[in-house]
Order: sequence, then structure tokens, then C-alpha cells
Amino acid sequence: MHKIEDDTVRRKLKKMTSLTFFQGYTNVEDDGQNNGFQFNDAVSRAVFEVLCNSDKSLFQRASRAMEDAHKVTLDLFATCFPNYNYYRSIPSIRITETLFENIHWDNHQIEDDFQQVRIFCNLDQRPRIWNVSHNFVTYARQLYKEHDLGRFAGKDPNLLNDYICGNVLGGTRNACRDPLPKHTIAFEPGEIWFGESRMISHQILYGERAMVYMFFVRPEDMLTGRNRFNQRVEDLHREMRGEVVAA
Ligand SMILES: [Fe+2]
Repeated sequence: MHKIEDDTVRRKLKKMTSLTFFQGYTNVEDDGQNNGFQFNDAVSRAVFEVLCNSDKSLFQRASRAMEDAHKVTLDLFATCFPNYNYYRSIPSIRITETLFENIHWDNHQIEDDFQQVRIFCNLDQRPRIWNVSHNFVTYARQLYKEHDLGRFAGKDPNLLNDYICGNVLGGTRNACRDPLPKHTIAFEPGEIWFGESRMISHQILYGERAMVYMFFVRPEDMLTGRNRFNQRVEDLHREMRGEVVAA
């Protein structure tokens, strides 16, 4: 990866759409210089030249494997959530070493009222190690009175996330110094797991290669729309005001 001089290409390669692997090129006649591929952009070309070391056979096998993995992920989504019509998806692949993150709940800086189905797969040869702790609502309930969290009622829940992850827990500056109780999980190579990562706290202790697919689902397409993230945060505010919240 360090061989890539262009910062933008290097950044994109570390966190790219998985489709780049198998939709980023067309097969053309091998003229002795192009290896039989014509790439759509610099990122696709870097997948071939840097990640696959310009090895034609390796690139073809990797492209096929990524395409298969993509289809399996879509199948898994359809099998597990047959009524959940997603209106947007972000299929990504992370090829970068992550060590000792701060524990956090994801903040996508997207204000829409949606539920996120996130499907992860460990592509590394070593386990991907996570710590998990309280879910977002449980932890916010613990802090609620002392930190006057009622001032976030009716606002974008990402603001509450910013406050808890940044002001309370200290963000990346305070990584691994938080006081939260933890469970540690080792996801084996090839293992797949699902989650709403705005609700489930997580801290990557080690990970190097992963596929992360994000599906955006509308509340009305969920089995129980009241369980969506925004509603559960709103329900917490109502509960703390002493209002009755529907089960
Ligand atoms: Fe995260």
C-alpha cells in the first residue's frame, strides 16, 4: 500500500467499494502491455497493480471471490430480512490494519430516520478482535441525569452520539482508557456477523481485512419499526420525562 504515491488513491484503496474488484475493469485483448484488462479508474488499476502485484491469475481469482462474496451477502440479507426492502446500500471492503480503537457507537452523520443492517465478514487470516459493552440507550440512560441529556431530546441522535463518544468518553485521544465493562470477541477468518453499529458499542482491538456491507431500511419495511435506532433514542427521552413508552 505504501507504494502508492497518490494520497487519494491510497485512502480509497483502504476503504473501497467491494464492487471495484469485479466491476472496475473490462477484459480487452492482451497487447503485451495491458495484461488483458482495461481499468475504469486509478483505484481499480491500483487493485491490480498493488494489491495483486500485477499478477493476472491472482487478480482474476480475487475478483471472482469478491463477486461471490457480494452475492452471498445479498443472499444472506434476503434470507434473514425477507421483508426489509433496502433503499440504499454501501458495500465496502477495508484493507487496513486497525489497532486499539476507542470504544464507540457508529455515527454516520446521516440524519435520516432509518434502520441499518450491517453485515461484517472477516477476510483476514487471523481473528478480528472486538470489545463490546453497553448498547447506546442503556449507557445514555446511566448518564442521563448527571449529564442533562434531556437537552438532546427532539434533536438528531448523532449529536447525542458526538457528546457521549467525544465529551464523555474522550474519543480517540482516550482510547482504551474508558471505564466501561467489556466482553471480548474473536471473529474467526471467514466468520460473518450482523449488527446495528449505532446501537451496539464496539472497539476494534485488532483487524486487518474485512468486508462491511451497510443496508438502509425504512421503518415501515421493518418487522417492528418501533425498534429502530431513532425511535429507541426518542423513547429514552420520553421515559426519562416520565411518559409511558409503548412496548
Ligand atoms: Fe465503528
